[in-house]
Amino acid sequence: MENKNSILTLSHVSKEFPGLRVLDDITLAVRHGEFFVIVGPSGSGKSTILRIMSGFERDFHGSVQYASGFSTRDASFVFQHFALFPWLTVAQNIEFGLLSRHRSIAKRKLRVMEELRRFRLEQFAHNFPRELSGGQRQRAGMARALATDPKIIFMDEPFSELDSFTAEELRKEFLEIWRHTDITIIMVTHLIEEALELADRIAVLTALPGKVEAVLENTLSRPRKKRTPDFFHLEDQLYRLVRP
Ligand SMILES: Nc1ncnc2c1ncn2[C@@H]1O[C@H](COP(=O)(O)OP(=O)(O)O)[C@@H](O)[C@H]1O
Ligand SMILES: [Mg+2]
Repeated sequence: MENKNSILTLSHVSKEFPGLRVLDDITLAVRHGEFFVIVGPSGSGKSTILRIMSGFERDFHGSVQYASGFSTRDASFVFQHFALFPWLTVAQNIEFGLLSRHRSIAKRKLRVMEELRRFRLEQFAHNFPRELSGGQRQRAGMARALATDPKIIFMDEPFSELDSFTAEELRKEFLEIWRHTDITIIMVTHLIEEALELADRIAVLTALPGKVEAVLENTLSRPRKKRTPDFFHLEDQLYRLVRP
């Protein structure tokens, strides 16, 4: 399954918690630079698969391989629950991942400023996360993820905690930013429509134990128009795959 375009390959990955088989023989390859979405119902093992891919979870069967020149060190994470440090300001949160990279203070500050500007958070630089709206908090989470210049970003239902209007806006904003990079995105979601709006390819995970039912190419042209026959057609196809 691996080829020269793959940045990350899973071969026959299975995972069991005591008495519970969560992932069953997952084989898939993520291509360099693509927006890869794994969609599946709640509890189907989506977060588990991301933890395995990103190296947080080491207790599993099968193998995870990065293309040569890439490793888990090139990855950032965006979580569902924002996961900002509550005792740090927005600017300090964004700077956090840069501290271990031995950059000069001046370079760090510059990088933080760039991300604040990119996510329209300049005026909140010195606020604490609790002082922000959900949308602003998740923009700060994304800014923090991008600040370290990752090659891969793992995203675990990053829009799920937001109201639908804010989620819609932030999806557009993030897509616009990603489009100008060569970052590979690996995102999980339980929302089929969201998967179709964002993904180049979609892996469909079944209910427990999670198996990859299919991997769909999403050839809809960007920006995606949701209320079109082609969109509905793919959406139907995905629904049938998630709930066979
Ligand atoms: N550390 C753990 N110990 C035992 N069971 C777990 C653990 N983490 C997750 N699970 C179980 O594994 C299944 C898949 O969990 P998860 O990967 O979080 O699913 P999803 O992200 O798709 O909702 C769930 O049934 C969950 O209860
Ligand atoms: Mg989850």
